[in-house]
Amino acid sequence: MKLSHTLIEKNLPLLFVLIVVAISFGGLVEIVPLFFQKSTTEAVAGWKPYGALQLAGRDIYIREGCSNCHSQMIRPFRAETERYGHYSVAGEFVYDRPFLWGSKRTGPDLARVGGRYTDEWHRVHLMNPRDLAPESNMPGYPWLAKGMADDGTIQRRMQVLRTLGHPYTDEEIAQAPEALKDRTEMDALIAYLQVLGTSIKSTAR
Ligand code: HEC
Repeated sequence: MKLSHTLIEKNLPLLFVLIVVAISFGGLVEIVPLFFQKSTTEAVAGWKPYGALQLAGRDIYIREGCSNCHSQMIRPFRAETERYGHYSVAGEFVYDRPFLWGSKRTGPDLARVGGRYTDEWHRVHLMNPRDLAPESNMPGYPWLAKGMADDGTIQRRMQVLRTLGHPYTDEEIAQAPEALKDRTEMDALIAYLQVLGTSIKSTAR
């Protein structure tokens, strides 16, 4: 036993290989079961894929880099659940491709911001956050009120998501351009913000 230990410690390539084997094994044991557990692969009860307008809004959220300052993941700690509501669970993110958990919280977590404010509040806030929160360092996004939500790709995007398992019906895809008609990018972004986290009722506020 002692001899083999010395052997491994003195043989760097062998030590390296054994370290990789040990770490890989540990990783597999933790990661592989997640692919088969219902709690991580199935949506929480009643959770549907984003509607056309919300989906368009989500892409604007990504484009504008909101994730650079906002996380979308509430950790199961008291300080977080009292401020933001029920902690996030895996089944809430099955229709998030890519997920937008983020890791930077210059601003508050947005995982359960849906329904917390009115659409009008968001409109004013997105135009110029300082009108509502005087010390805010969040930039204003006034151009979103001018850009139109429909860039002609929404149906294609929904079709691609359907091949990945999002249960969109033919009818929903056919009606998508109608849902985006005459709506601005800001309308779409607000529609997205208003649905965030609403699958599990918030316990805070
Ligand atoms: C530079 C960092 C920064 C960026 C980028 C940013 N925010 Fe913020 N955001 C903040 C800060 C700080 C606050 C808290 C003060 C306030 O309400 O303005 C905030 C607050 C918010 C709130 C209110 C949350 C609450 O629970 O009160 C929403 C909603 C929001 N941001 C949405 C967005 C969206 C959507 C984007 C992208 C278009 C965005 N933010 C980009 C920093 C940022």
